[in-house]
Amino acid sequence: MECWHIRGGRRLEGACFVQGSKNASLPILAASLVCPAETELENVPCLRDVDAALRILRHLGCRAEQRGGSVSIDSRGLNGSEIPRRLMEEMRSSVIFMGALIARCGQARLSLPGGCQLGKRPIDLHLSALRQMGAQIEEDGGEILCRAGKLHGAEISLPFPSVGATENAMLAACTAEGKTVIRGAAREPEIGALQDYLRTLGARISGAGTDTVTVEGLQAKEHASCRIAPDRIVASTLVCAAAATGGDVELRGIDPRQFSTVLDFLNRAGCDIISSDRSVRCRAAQRLKAVGEVVTAPYPGFPTDAQPVLMAALLRAEGRTKIKETIFENRFRQAAELCRLGADITVSGRTAEIWGVERLQGAALTATDLRGGAAMIVAGLGAEGETLLFDEGHITRGYERFDARLRALGADVVLEY
Ligand code: UD1
Repeated sequence: MECWHIRGGRRLEGACFVQGSKNASLPILAASLVCPAETELENVPCLRDVDAALRILRHLGCRAEQRGGSVSIDSRGLNGSEIPRRLMEEMRSSVIFMGALIARCGQARLSLPGGCQLGKRPIDLHLSALRQMGAQIEEDGGEILCRAGKLHGAEISLPFPSVGATENAMLAACTAEGKTVIRGAAREPEIGALQDYLRTLGARISGAGTDTVTVEGLQAKEHASCRIAPDRIVASTLVCAAAATGGDVELRGIDPRQFSTVLDFLNRAGCDIISSDRSVRCRAAQRLKAVGEVVTAPYPGFPTDAQPVLMAALLRAEGRTKIKETIFENRFRQAAELCRLGADITVSGRTAEIWGVERLQGAALTATDLRGGAAMIVAGLGAEGETLLFDEGHITRGYERFDARLRALGADVVLEY
C-alpha cells in the first residue's frame, strides 16, 4: 500500500518536461515480437505496466531490458505463444500481445486482461477483427485460444473506434497475406506512434490518425527503433494541477495539439493558455469559472482519461459544470472520494454535476483507479490542510516519479511506500 501525503494550498509554479507516454509504449512493446528483430526504444517511462509488458516478453523467450528510459528488446529467441493468467491480469494492454503473437506464431493462448475497473471492457471487437482475418478463436471460462496459421487480409469495419481493437488488428495484419483495411479505426496519437514503429520494423502501413488504416504486409527488418512521445494524459494532469492551485506551469517538449480539448476547457475556466509547437504554459486565474458541459469522446474529442483530473480542477470553480462520460460506464468512481474533501458532485448514470464550492478541506481518501487516483492528487493540491491518499498501486502504474515532479513545481507532496 502506498500513501501520498499532500499538503494543499501551494501554487504550482515552474517549467518541466513530461514523461514518455504509457499508452504509446505498451502496444509498441507488444509489437516488438511481430517479427524476429532487435528493438531500441527511448523515453519509455519506468512504470509498473511497462515492467509487466517486459516480463511478458521475457516469459515468451525474448530478451527485454530497461535502463532508465531506454528499453532494448531482442525478439529473435521467442519460444512460446502462451501467456499465463497472472501476467495477463496485471494490465489491460496485455491483450495487445494477442495480435502480435498471432502475427508471429499463427497462434496464441492467453486469458482476459486486467486493468482499471471502469466498466465492462469487453474484447469482442478485438476478436471479431481477428476472426475476419481468418483466426479461429475459442473462449472458455476467461481463457482464449486463437489458431490462425496464415491470416489473410480483410476489410474490417469497427462499429466503435476502439483503441485496443485497432492496435490488435494492425499487428495481426502485418503478416497476413494481402491487404487489410481497418475502417472506423481509432485516431488517437498512440495509433500514429504504433504505425511509426511498425514502419521501422518494415511494415507497409498508412492512414494512422484518420479513420482508415491500411496494412499491406511486412518486409521484416532486423533492427527497429523509436522514441516515445510525451504522455498527453500526464500533461493534462499537470495543467489541471496548475489550474487547481491558481498556479503557473509550463510544459516543455510536448505538442499541445494532442490535448487541446483539455486546454480549451481550462481556457474557458479562466486560465491563460500560451501554446507553441513544442510547449504550453497554463497560467491560472485566482478563482476558476465553471465550463458548462464537458462530453468525453474518442480522439480528437475530449479524452475520457482526462475527465477525472479536469473534474478535480473544477471543484472550486464558480458555477455548475456538467460532465457526460460516453466511453466507459463506470468512470466517476473518484467522485465520492472527492466529496470527502467538501466537493459538491452529484452523479446520475453517465452524467456528473459539479457545483463549485468556496474551499476544499484535506481528508483521507482511497484511490479507486489510475486516473481517479491522479484526480485525488490534483484535488488534494487545491485543498486546505493535509490529504492522505491511500493507493494499492494504481497511480504508479501510469505516473513516473510523480511526487518528485510535483515537488519540483513547488508542491508539498511525499509518497510513502
Ligand atoms: C485505451 C487506453 C485507455 C483509454 C481508452 C479510451 C491504453 C492502454 N488504454 O483503452 O487509457 O481510456 O483507450 O481512450 O491505451 N469496447 C468494446 N469492445 C471491445 C473493445 C472496446 O465494447 O472489443 C468498448 C469499451 O468497453 C469502452 C470503449 O469501447 O467502452 C473504448 O474502449 P477502447 O478504445 O478499446 O479502450 P482501450 O483500448 O481498452
